[in-house]
Amino acid sequence: MYLLIPAAGSGKRMGANCNKLLLKVHSQSIIAWTLLAAEAASQIRWIGIISQPSEWHDFKAIVAGLAMTKPVEFIPGGTTRQESVYNGLQALPSEAKEVLIHDGARCLATPELFNACAIAILNCPGLIAAVPVKDTIKVVGESGIIESTPKREKLWAAQTPQGFNVQLLKQCHAEGVRQGWEVTDDAALFEKCGIQVRIVPGEETNLKVTTPQDLAIAELILSLR
Ligand code: C5P
Repeated sequence: MYLLIPAAGSGKRMGANCNKLLLKVHSQSIIAWTLLAAEAASQIRWIGIISQPSEWHDFKAIVAGLAMTKPVEFIPGGTTRQESVYNGLQALPSEAKEVLIHDGARCLATPELFNACAIAILNCPGLIAAVPVKDTIKVVGESGIIESTPKREKLWAAQTPQGFNVQLLKQCHAEGVRQGWEVTDDAALFEKCGIQVRIVPGEETNLKVTTPQDLAIAELILSLR
């Protein structure tokens, strides 16, 4: 299975003055933990890291230090996650029929989750790892007044890995560019194009490291493993 890792964000919400994926959790950077999980997932055979060329020097040094056995390619990032994934899709080897996309910031996803997604995507056009939400979710208007309360039983928190048929995902991204759709994950493009995306059970610990608090939680979770 081919794996694309969007890793070209700026880390603004982390308040860091560098890409947050270069920050350390215990002994390793966030991106290193993500790569170690991908390396340990037997179903993954090729990894594309999408990041800003100005940071390739740092990313390449990290990859060299991990002694990866799988091929790792570097792909230039875009100004949004959507653009970064678009670039990644263009860089996939032509024989790639399915692809997993996994945010570099989700450094706690296990090899088992990668493998489960890699196997499941062979039998459907699109999937995402997701967990049922625990909170009651409110839709809130600009004035700060609640507009509605969706039924919690129907609400799931989207994670990555997300898996897709490559040809369909390329078509959905192209349609997204034509229509000017702005989305925060790739499943949303499938949904907008009317293509079914199924849920694979995600992991409660598979958090996206976004804020300094998330870094502390990630440290705790890794120390318990
Ligand atoms: O900013 P956020 O945490 O939502 O980004 C999700 C993932 O997308 C991160 O791994 C980040 O590095 C990546 N990203 C990207 N290109 C961008 C913005 C974000 O690859 N322009």
